[in-house]
Amino acid sequence: MLGKACCVISFMEGNGPTVEHIPVLGECLAGQVRLPVDGVMVDVTVGHGGHSLLFGKTLGPAGIIVGFDLDTNVIRRARIRLENLACKVILIHSNFAEISDQVGKLGIKQVDFILADLGMCSAQILDAEKGLSFQSNMPLDMRIDKRIKRTAADIINSADEKALADLIYRFGQDRASRRIARFIATRRRRGRIETTGELAAVVCKALGRPGGRRSRIHPATRTFQALRIAVNDELGNLEKLLISAPSLLKRNGQLAVISFHSLEDRLVKKNFRENEKANVYRIITRKPIVASREEVLQNRRSRSAKLRIAQRR
Ligand SMILES: C[S@@+](CC[C@H](N)C(=O)[O-])C[C@H]1O[C@@H](n2cnc3c(N)ncnc32)[C@H](O)[C@@H]1O
Repeated sequence: MLGKACCVISFMEGNGPTVEHIPVLGECLAGQVRLPVDGVMVDVTVGHGGHSLLFGKTLGPAGIIVGFDLDTNVIRRARIRLENLACKVILIHSNFAEISDQVGKLGIKQVDFILADLGMCSAQILDAEKGLSFQSNMPLDMRIDKRIKRTAADIINSADEKALADLIYRFGQDRASRRIARFIATRRRRGRIETTGELAAVVCKALGRPGGRRSRIHPATRTFQALRIAVNDELGNLEKLLISAPSLLKRNGQLAVISFHSLEDRLVKKNFRENEKANVYRIITRKPIVASREEVLQNRRSRSAKLRIAQRR
């Protein structure tokens, strides 16, 4: 069984400053995953390329990294960060739910390693265009990919009160969901809720707690999580990825998933267990790996990260 705590990885790019997006649990992953020098890695959430850079440095010219992301801005950034690697780098603007089709189109039949680091990069959360943050006032959007039709504002302003309560309960696990939905419905009578600030204010009022930077967990955290999951169909996409992975992995190939809330982690745990029973996977991490205290101090985002790894039989 693996130790629970792992150390933080932080590294320098050329002579420049320390990279601001530190890949979560990077050192733990590097210690657990065996990627041959001519191996194929699919980083289904390439983001700023932090994890891809870490593994890409171990690959030679015959190695390949295929990176997926839904956000064209981060792909642009990843392309620059990964351009000096010796291996081939292919970046695709696509949903990882389509992994089988997209990897197939490249003529790649099977791969050595699939990595999913779920959620968003910190820069995306701060990006006003994405409308994900309750810490500042932004249009209430939440789509990672602008091709998605329905925004968070569309849901908040059109769903009936019961549907809203169910959504906040199911995806946000907030026990005050009915009260929050009631306050939203009442507030809507005065006009549409168009910004993250307006929505956060309604939730704070419903819960009778002020937000602000000093509260440990902002009262609107769960409602925002619920909306983000719904807008981007995050759980549906993860399920599709988990279903596709076994047929893409070579024998002994590995799938690693870093999740950030219990709804995601539960799906991963269940899928790994079922596949182990069916003799498809061997589970490498009996308990999820979590970040060490040092990593959490350096990178707050890592505090809720859970890493699970399975190996194809
Ligand atoms: C936490 S970040 C990844 C950071 C990356 N591991 C790094 O070290 O730079 C997650 C990324 O996954 C992307 N993403 C989320 N859901 C996705 C999906 N269904 N398909 C493709 N990319 C997705 C987000 O746009 C974001 O860039």
